[in-house]
Amino acid sequence: MPKHNYSVYITIALTALFIIVLFGSFYLAFNTTSEPIDTTLAFPVETDSREPILPIPLTVNLDERKVDLGRQLFSDPILSGDGTVSCWTCHNLSLGGTDSLDVSIGINGRQGEINAPTVFNAGYNFRQFWDGRAIDLEDQIDGPLTSDFEMGSSWDDVVSRLEDDETYSQLFSIEYPDGISPNNIRHALATFQESLITPNARFDQYLRGDENAITDEEKRGYQLFQSYGCISCHQGINIGGNLFQRFGIMADYFADRGNITEADYGRFNVTGFEEDRYVFKVPSLRNVELTSPYFHDASVSTLEDAVLTMGYYQLGLNLTDDEIGSIVAFLKTLTGEHPEMNNPAES
Ligand code: HEC
Ligand code: HEC
Repeated sequence: MPKHNYSVYITIALTALFIIVLFGSFYLAFNTTSEPIDTTLAFPVETDSREPILPIPLTVNLDERKVDLGRQLFSDPILSGDGTVSCWTCHNLSLGGTDSLDVSIGINGRQGEINAPTVFNAGYNFRQFWDGRAIDLEDQIDGPLTSDFEMGSSWDDVVSRLEDDETYSQLFSIEYPDGISPNNIRHALATFQESLITPNARFDQYLRGDENAITDEEKRGYQLFQSYGCISCHQGINIGGNLFQRFGIMADYFADRGNITEADYGRFNVTGFEEDRYVFKVPSLRNVELTSPYFHDASVSTLEDAVLTMGYYQLGLNLTDDEIGSIVAFLKTLTGEHPEMNNPAES
């Protein structure tokens, strides 16, 4: 019998341990999903609150002259193929940043296929569009600009039209060393949209410590919003906008509604993964009282019906009228302030 050489065993054991730890840490470091979720917020948030909802900062630091240039571009139909449609046409800031239509109408009266979301606070969304196909506000712009359903333009046309315009040539040459280019147009438009934040909602005042900023009924609505689990999908600074979720978790919304279109496939249209069918970016609930109709398919026009639908299809609940009333009251405390936004709370 050979004598056991314990030091050999110990060396083998230590080597094995080392390999396990090494590969384990590689696994943890590199085992990201095909699409890493970027949850970074667009702007710093000034609170250490333990609330699942964060208030919007009262001010945001942006280059004012670029904001102004972006504002001018945003409302100028010069960006569209036939000079009739601007971003504002479908994202009317005095209508809560939307068009109040079921589906938008682009150049030549062409109807789109999906409800227009608001541009207010869009900079806080982790992706843009209902299906999240654009990574940020700059990436988003090519969509409407070149879509035949929206502005029906091309970058070459847009650049040459702006170059022919004396005011724009001058403004761009001051703001951007390389003048008019698709990137600079994207940048100016995105900078303007980053200025479209709506701080100081009554609910944000409450989060900042003003107990009297919302009523008892609104507080009850917030309690229900949390205890029933709305908060598990609608949370963070935008009370939404930071997750993808299926529409119809507890019951089959699309089978019940019928007439399924490609737009209903949601994130499936981007990834092609079966598990992404009917999955959408959870929309922000800020200013939601201003942005009827609701859902990507504009299937309901009142907040009461939207809450009823959410309770049933997302949570398997039959909410009572009383509960819905309180939740809607809470949702109306999410309307914030922006000089260009029609704020019914103030009128
Ligand atoms: C013809 C109507 C129309 C025009 C014009 C238009 N949009 Fe939109 N916009 C929409 C619709 C509809 C969507 C939703 C499309 C989708 O999700 O597939 C949208 C989505 C967006 C979003 C994403 C918001 C979010 O929360 O996902 C932003 C930002 C936006 N538009 C900005 C702009 C800008 C900037 C312009 C001008 C360059 C513009 N839009 C022009 C109709 C329009
Ligand atoms: C499992 C995730 C999830 C839960 C839970 C959830 N929602 Fe939603 N919510 C969504 C998604 C996804 C949408 C977008 C659906 C669509 O249009 O395709 C949405 C849309 C909405 C809208 C419409 C917003 C708009 O601009 O069109 C409202 C209002 C809303 N939810 C409120 C609620 C309330 C209130 C609750 C709790 C009763 C709730 N949600 C629970 C995921 C969720």
